[in-house]
Amino acid sequence: MTQTPSWWQTGTIYQIYPRSFMDGNGDGIGDIPGIISKLDYLRWLDVDAIWLSPIYPSPMADFGYDIADYTDVHPIFGKLSDMEQLIVEAHKRDLKVILDFVPNHTSDEHPWFQESRSSRDNPRRDWYMWHDPASDGGPPNNWTSFFGGSAWQFDEQTGQYYLHMFDVKQPDLNWRNPDMREAMYNVLRFWLERGIDGFRVDVLWMLLKDEQLRDNPQHPDWKPGDPPYLRQEGRYTEDQPGIHEIVREMRKTLDEFGERVFIGEIYLPIHRLMHYYGEMLDEAHLPFNFQFVTTPTWEARTIQSMVHEYEEALPEGAWPNWVLGNHDRPRVASRLGREQARAAQMLLLTLRGTPTCYYGDELGMQDVAIPLEMMHDPQGKDNPANGRDPNRTPMQWDDTPNAGFSPAGIQTWLPIALDYQNNNVAAEQQDPRSFLTLTRTLLTLRRALPALSQGTYQTLDQDNANCFAFLREHEDTRYLVVLNFAETEQVVKPLPTGQGHIILSTYLDREEDVDLAHLQLRAHEGCLIKL
Ligand code: GLC
Repeated sequence: MTQTPSWWQTGTIYQIYPRSFMDGNGDGIGDIPGIISKLDYLRWLDVDAIWLSPIYPSPMADFGYDIADYTDVHPIFGKLSDMEQLIVEAHKRDLKVILDFVPNHTSDEHPWFQESRSSRDNPRRDWYMWHDPASDGGPPNNWTSFFGGSAWQFDEQTGQYYLHMFDVKQPDLNWRNPDMREAMYNVLRFWLERGIDGFRVDVLWMLLKDEQLRDNPQHPDWKPGDPPYLRQEGRYTEDQPGIHEIVREMRKTLDEFGERVFIGEIYLPIHRLMHYYGEMLDEAHLPFNFQFVTTPTWEARTIQSMVHEYEEALPEGAWPNWVLGNHDRPRVASRLGREQARAAQMLLLTLRGTPTCYYGDELGMQDVAIPLEMMHDPQGKDNPANGRDPNRTPMQWDDTPNAGFSPAGIQTWLPIALDYQNNNVAAEQQDPRSFLTLTRTLLTLRRALPALSQGTYQTLDQDNANCFAFLREHEDTRYLVVLNFAETEQVVKPLPTGQGHIILSTYLDREEDVDLAHLQLRAHEGCLIKL
């Protein structure tokens, strides 16, 4: 890397789900004053930026991803002035603030949609996707919603269907309408003027749909109970021609304000994902790389080829990024178990590229089983097995009732994990071998060692199929990362010969010289080794 890297390249992003981070006013739901009260924790943890899932006014049909006003704050979370204070307080601590921007759809309670649905000749009619019924009176085509059922909803008042790729209360905007587009760019400007450091843009790859409304092909092996979003191939609803022009326009809007970051939520195969950097690197800075959250198998060879192929596919000058968890997928410690999740955390925080950490994953928080009657998520109501509530439970701060998230005796919006008395920030801060201590040590090392934050990456071939080894190098410093994916002890060989010095084991119990001719790793162990 020749230029001085940007903050979003060397830094680590921490995702906050505001409902679940910290309840500042004792109503059982997290809020912005709560987040402000925990900024010192985030500084201590040593992340660089926080990304907040939506904080805007919303009827909460999809927990804030259904926005009724893009330029205000939901009273549950606080006031606009709280958001302004959060920006000031975060900046004081050298933390950047990234907002979630949801451009694919609004809430059906957004005034734009209220106007749009009021009559066929309303000036905002075309801001949404309205279509006549098919000849039999049914929906215009076969498109299905990500949350299940048809993506079309009939509206009596004007006799047409509107499109909703998610909940029926989330009508899709029409990104072919230039006035709507400009209104959305003004939303970005509203927040950029207030000092927001960037956006994570929701379902960026889905903004345009086929103008001819052609039917999507069905996935032949989909069966009831599988996630509804896997039911169809999004051939005519995702990654459509013309999308890159919109992404470039968004990027230009951010660029009006200097060094801000543009992150895109994009679930696409690698070769198509790469297009979202833009031919001139003039689109998203970080098209989210979700391979670690979507992979059905977590084993050394799979992960090694995943990393290798991603590195090879990156366009010249494009900056990589890695995500291990988010508010839409089961938590990493539940998918892999707490032991292997420690190795995964080392992987995330030692690879080349910006890491994104999901709140609570730094503690090894796990999914919490939610009884049907307590489920909130529309995706879970359609099919409880696919619900996202289990991975959105309140942050575990200490061992007092309600885990220090809400005052004792208050009903929290989702139940607290049963294990909170042992797995919480306060306890793990005291424990030199805890998951949290591991995460913080990795973050601190990543900041201290340019080889980790900006060095080159090289896959190292070795014989043991249960292990993955790679090299990070910057100027004259070289670090080796070796990870054991198995639940038994493994010997890794051959590695670059000679001696190395282990500076960190995921067990947090050894710092020693080692002979790299035959390096022994305990079950699930990962080591960071100075060469
Ligand atoms: C994105 C969000 C998800 C939301 C959906 C609709 O995938 O991450 O939580 O339900 O978009 O906005």
